[in-house]
Amino acid sequence: MKALITAGGRGTRLRPITHTKNKHLIPIANKPMLAYAIESVAEAGITSIGIITNADSQDVQDTFGNGNSYGVEITYIPQEAPLGLAHVVKISEDFIKTDPFLFYLGDNMLVGGVKKFVDSFEASKANCHLTLAKVKDPQRFGVPELNNGQIISIVEKPSDPKSDYAVSGLYIYDSSIFEAVNAISPSARGELEISDAHQYLLDNGFKISYSEITGWWKDTGKPIDLLEANRLVLDHQQSNILGSVDGNSTITGNVIIGKGSTIQNSIIRGPVIIGEDCDIRDSYIGPFTSIDDNTSIFHSEIEFSIVLKQCKIHDVGFRIEESLLGAEVEIVKSKRLPKTNRFMLADHSNIEVS
Ligand code: DAU
Repeated sequence: MKALITAGGRGTRLRPITHTKNKHLIPIANKPMLAYAIESVAEAGITSIGIITNADSQDVQDTFGNGNSYGVEITYIPQEAPLGLAHVVKISEDFIKTDPFLFYLGDNMLVGGVKKFVDSFEASKANCHLTLAKVKDPQRFGVPELNNGQIISIVEKPSDPKSDYAVSGLYIYDSSIFEAVNAISPSARGELEISDAHQYLLDNGFKISYSEITGWWKDTGKPIDLLEANRLVLDHQQSNILGSVDGNSTITGNVIIGKGSTIQNSIIRGPVIIGEDCDIRDSYIGPFTSIDDNTSIFHSEIEFSIVLKQCKIHDVGFRIEESLLGAEVEIVKSKRLPKTNRFMLADHSNIEVS
């Protein structure tokens, strides 16, 4: 079995971070989101992985190389434009050939691995195995209609969903999916929809089986989804303190502190991860916060947030919460008059003041 993982698309709902960074490289607990997908696939014993990338960028290749460090072999498949998930499958046929394959949307985070779904696919002798998760907002997803334990139809982002299940971004196929993706036409939004390919399989006598995801699964489309994914991953981590913590600081809960980082006169309440060479002084870092390398936080408070590399948070007079800060962001107390708030924001930035 092979695997195909997506890392293309534009990530528009995560702007401005995605103006300069591929969404799949945004760190969750200081590790690029896509690394979790690669690790799950490797854990299931699949070593030949195709990764779909935007044709105009090399950043995913630069991050993961040939996959050696994950014990896998990665083939990069450039996509000229985000023309839909069925388009992704279509352009990957030369890589997949006639093998069965796991199709994994690289912006989906899942706990508990994928091996059990591969086993269910093999046991079911189906042409396609889907994974369904109960959601509150099925309108955002591909939605199946179920009858007597069988999927009888699938509609992409329906205004009138026929169930409260989402088809999650983890699919297993045999090569009949290529017939489907080559037969369908673009949807009203101009994409070749994977849900239309699934409907084609149903209409043409192919067998679709499914498993229900009962554990944790998240499609990280919006900033709050990233914070939730970060929360979940941090919740499962073990403490590991490699940096130095002075006697005036208090560390509680599971906390990782990378080498070269120093914590002085501060309270760190886990789960928290602090990367390497960070400088934390006279501050409070609260639960579910990830701070990436070379960041300094002085006289400030932050919790339930993701802070990328080389940020400066100095003397901020309010607690930062539920926030996502890109690399090299600075939030500092102004030392000049008049006493006003000054902003220098990238396109599509979002600030909420109280
Ligand atoms: O997350 C599950 C949902 O994923 C399913 O319920 C939907 O049926 C399915 O269409 C998909 O919906 P999204 O709207 O969430 O898909 P999105 O455009 O966000 O893309 C999902 C992943 O695929 C993400 O890693 C970006 C990548 N992608 C997307 C497109 C359209 C590509 O690499 N190329 C593309 O052309």
